[in-house]
Amino acid sequence: MEMNAVVKGVCVIIFFAVACSIAQDEQSAGDVQMNTFDTACKRQLNYTIRNDLQKPTFEYSLAIRFCRQPFIRIMEKAVNKNRNFMFSATYFPKLGYFIDAINGVRGFYNVNKTWWAFLKAPDTMLPVGVSSYYPADGDHIIFNFTQS
Ligand SMILES: *[C@@H]1O[C@H](CO)[C@@H](O)[C@H](O)[C@H]1NC(C)=O
Ligand SMILES: *[C@@H]1O[C@H](CO)[C@@H](O)[C@H](O)[C@H]1NC(C)=O
Ligand SMILES: *[C@@H]1O[C@H](CO)[C@@H](O)[C@H](O)[C@H]1NC(C)=O
Repeated sequence: MEMNAVVKGVCVIIFFAVACSIAQDEQSAGDVQMNTFDTACKRQLNYTIRNDLQKPTFEYSLAIRFCRQPFIRIMEKAVNKNRNFMFSATYFPKLGYFIDAINGVRGFYNVNKTWWAFLKAPDTMLPVGVSSYYPADGDHIIFNFTQS
């Protein structure tokens, strides 16, 4: 009887230990954990925003350290470092965020086919959006204001 209780107790402890380690594994892949231990994030990328299309034209670049995160989270970090990188976006169900404007420059696709192209340097269009793209160490990501 007493032995049974001890065995049960041990089982409960083991169960929680296993459950906790699983939960920790899951969390270490998540953004919350990554932001909390930001200094542990060793990856770095170069993020450029460029508008050659309409005045005032600009180009800004920023080196950013990051963890395993979708690019939208890195765009937020960029804004925290430098206000030129401020942006606005619209969330579409399942697809994630679409970038409407960066540094005050807004795409008017319906009016004159202007939009912010999401590229990997020098000129590769990324096949997914900012909510789905997980950058790699050493990436150079460019938002290029485009008319097409
Ligand atoms: C980031 O890219 C810009 C534009 O190509 C370049 O001028 C700059 O040197 C790069 N910065 C780093 C840290 O690689
Ligand atoms: C596109 O249209 C917007 C809205 O009318 C305007 O502000 C912008 O200057 C235009 N851009 C170009 C490149 O024609
Ligand atoms: C960036 O946009 C400008 C203006 O539309 C265009 O001339 C240029 O080819 C684009 N660059 C890349 C790498 O797509």
